[in-house]
Amino acid sequence: VELLAGPRPLAGRRVLITAGGTIERLDPVRYITNDSSGKMGFALAESARGLGADVTLVCARTDGPPPPGVRVVSAESAEEMYEAVMSRVPETDFVVKAAAVADYRPARRQSSKMKKGPEQLTLELVRNPDILQAIGDWKQAGAAEGGAGRRTPFVVGFAAETGDTERYALDKLKRKRCDLIVANDVSQAGAGFGTDTNIVSVYGDEGLVAALPLQSKRAAADRIWQLAIERASSPAA
Ligand code: CTP
Ligand code: CA
Repeated sequence: VELLAGPRPLAGRRVLITAGGTIERLDPVRYITNDSSGKMGFALAESARGLGADVTLVCARTDGPPPPGVRVVSAESAEEMYEAVMSRVPETDFVVKAAAVADYRPARRQSSKMKKGPEQLTLELVRNPDILQAIGDWKQAGAAEGGAGRRTPFVVGFAAETGDTERYALDKLKRKRCDLIVANDVSQAGAGFGTDTNIVSVYGDEGLVAALPLQSKRAAADRIWQLAIERASSPAA
């Protein structure tokens, strides 16, 4: 990989970032979602743009508008996000998966508003596709075929955890074959969903790469890009 350096190290690079929380619809007016605000993904997009990248932001539900100067693709549900991401991965240099993708969706989507009925109602949910896993598997398959003529993006995953953050994050990194994983303990004040600040630890194959202190999501994004660029340009990557 040629060295990425200078004030615009991502010039000419295509970056794909996902942001926000997916919406999994039950009927035309009801859905399941999560607390993701999209702020971390937006900060990463803004930072990448400042570093010269051509940025595509795949957005689920977010608080507020995306930053200017990036290409925005809307994807409401996990399945839509899967399509939006997988169709673009082959022409991408860096993939950053900051979105909070729902693990499950309602098994059936009613076409008209559900009526109330019995005292108890059980919702049946089914697993969503795992997008980060699919990217990892795609990279692996390409490597197995010799990788001729194929770009293999540098992949940064996220992990929002409570409890044994390091173990869960490293497990996800290996299972999903990410190059880096950014973990945050969402039970800490000033970290995670909705806030303007974050406290994250970045892990690579060898373990902890950097434990970042409490700082704005934008400052954390700059550090994450610095680490990703360093590793993508090193001969080992
Ligand atoms: N992710 C994804 N597709 C999914 C679920 C998660 O691409 N269907 C991605 C997220 O965008 C994130 C990473 O996988 O970058 C980790 O998400 P997380 O929810 O922490 O991991 P899971 O594998 O879903 O494990 P769990 O929720 O059981 O902890
Ligand atoms: Ca999950």
